Amino acid sequence: MSRSDVTVRAIEPSDLPAIIRIDEKLSGQTRKEYWQRRLEISALRPPWMSLVAETDGRIAGFLFGWVAESEFGMSQPTAWVDLIGVDPPYRGRGIAHALIGRFVRSGQELRAIQKVATLIDLTQADVREFFLRQGFHHGPMIQMERDVQS
Ligand SMILES: CC(C)(COP(=O)(O)OP(=O)(O)OC[C@H]1O[C@@H](n2cnc3c(N)ncnc32)[C@H](O)[C@@H]1OP(=O)(O)O)[C@@H](O)C(=O)NCCC(=O)NCCS
Repeated sequence: MSRSDVTVRAIEPSDLPAIIRIDEKLSGQTRKEYWQRRLEISALRPPWMSLVAETDGRIAGFLFGWVAESEFGMSQPTAWVDLIGVDPPYRGRGIAHALIGRFVRSGQELRAIQKVATLIDLTQADVREFFLRQGFHHGPMIQMERDVQS
């Protein structure tokens, strides 16, 4: 299958069951309430920040992102990829590449972004490799965290 067989569009409320189904395969959990809330947040953001990819008449992948103007001390508008996922049978067909491509183009046109960034788990070698292939490199930031006792 060629990359031109992939259609990327803004997410719609009716995509919820398909997103939940793909996430079940990625996370091993059924997270209906989480995804309902996530789509409610997406509805408050510009449509290009929450995307699905369709191929074979099915939802095969999703991307959720946002734009930071000066958060984390970054001086230029930066598009952040929060979540990206592709249904396992549809991997290796350029689905995630198409999602990132649309996200970055829209960010350039609509918010004049100068950078695109994400956080990855270094133990997920496939995700790291994917972002390297999209031209990403390791940046100067690391996340800082601590547990909060209840
Ligand atoms: C990483 C992921 C998004 C890639 O999706 P995909 O649709 O298969 O990727 P694409 O087909 O668009 O691949 C684009 C490029 O990345 C490379 N790539 C993708 N997956 C790869 C892997 N597992 N290993 C090595 N390279 C990989 C492809 O070879 C391709 O390279 P090319 O442009 O040089 O040909 C997908 O495997 C996935 O959903 N993984 C789980 C994601 C996850 O855990 N998300 C939660 C945290 S956000």
